[in-house]
Amino acid sequence: MTATTTAPRSLVIDGISVLVTNAPDLGAGPLGEITDAAIVVADGRVAWAGPAGAAPAADVRVDAAGRCVIPGFVDSHTHIVFAGDRGAEFAARMSGAPYQAGGIRSTVAATRAASDADLLSTAVRLLREARAQGTTTCEIKSGYGLTVADEERLLRIAARLTEEVTFLGAHVVPPEYADDPAGYVDLVTGPMLDACAPHARWIDVFCERGAFDEEVSRRVLLAGRERGLAARVHGNQLGTGPGVRLAVEVGAASVDHCTHLTAADVAALSDAASDGSGTVATLLPGVDFATRQPYPDARALLDAAVPVALASDCNPGSCFTSSVAFCIALAVREMRMTPREALYAATAGGARALRRTDVGHLGVGARADLVLLDAPDPVYLAYRPGVPLVAAVWQDGELVSGDPAR
Ligand code: NIG
Ligand code: FE
Repeated sequence: MTATTTAPRSLVIDGISVLVTNAPDLGAGPLGEITDAAIVVADGRVAWAGPAGAAPAADVRVDAAGRCVIPGFVDSHTHIVFAGDRGAEFAARMSGAPYQAGGIRSTVAATRAASDADLLSTAVRLLREARAQGTTTCEIKSGYGLTVADEERLLRIAARLTEEVTFLGAHVVPPEYADDPAGYVDLVTGPMLDACAPHARWIDVFCERGAFDEEVSRRVLLAGRERGLAARVHGNQLGTGPGVRLAVEVGAASVDHCTHLTAADVAALSDAASDGSGTVATLLPGVDFATRQPYPDARALLDAAVPVALASDCNPGSCFTSSVAFCIALAVREMRMTPREALYAATAGGARALRRTDVGHLGVGARADLVLLDAPDPVYLAYRPGVPLVAAVWQDGELVSGDPAR
């Protein structure tokens, strides 16, 4: 067979009403906005962005026809490798039943019983669904296996789909260890970590009453660090507690949920942020929506200069949405974030929570992960909630979803 080589093709998108770059050197304000803009992509990267009139030529041209372009969403928190359904649990909650960490165990039972092929196809379907809604980078956690073999296979499946793989063996204590929780922690920090570390970049722990306490959570995170895994934490979801403080103490990239924060928690995040490398507060308003919890105090965090991310937490129990746009709308309506703050948190904020510099913005050299919205301005993400506004999605410069001409 003769190899054929085709020259890499460049793409220009022009006629853009507002281009959000998140690169303040390229445009106005903290989101680096350019009006009447164009963007040029070559070799999967952003090659140029600026006023449409000054755009260099490219091989292929797309006319945005007065619509806006934003960076692809960076969804830094999902649990999409699972089996089973908890729609009845959701319905019961809406009738007054509380959300309890124990619901996780029903997904664990279904996941253990599922084949690799079924788990993969569910995750692929959810990832495709997310991509069609503008998500171009997606973190995926384990946590529904909770045996050495099951956690390892969930991570192998996740690693087929993303670079951002998180080992969450410390999700809850599984039923077979109900009488020996310490034994389960030994398993997680020993043989399970040995088997899982090669497949993951991150280690996470559910630091919450009903899951793992502060001391155990610290042990889990430090064991992960010794095996080269960087820390992230589920904390302060169901009540105040040590999660935020622990995340800051161990230098976690992110502490996720933050529904119940004390002034001391906000101060700890703020102090850590002042050196530029602090822990990101990742807010998951879809969870608070679907568990009838109060919403986190995003204003207190933003006013204290804490870096904030927004993510979906897509999972079958506490929040079964893959829509980051829905989370943006909730953040604006319920958490008093401005539409621009929410968009930034769901793109640049997510990238920071994953310690990525190549995604979450459209500066020159960034990955060409971009979303064309059927809207003249990104405020429409919150202004028109629930409406499928994503016209087209490019990942690494390739059109992967939608049709820009539709
Ligand atoms: O992020 N909080 C812990 N873990 C998930 C919930 C998982 C579940 O209920 O199945 C979360 O909300
Ligand atoms: Fe989660």
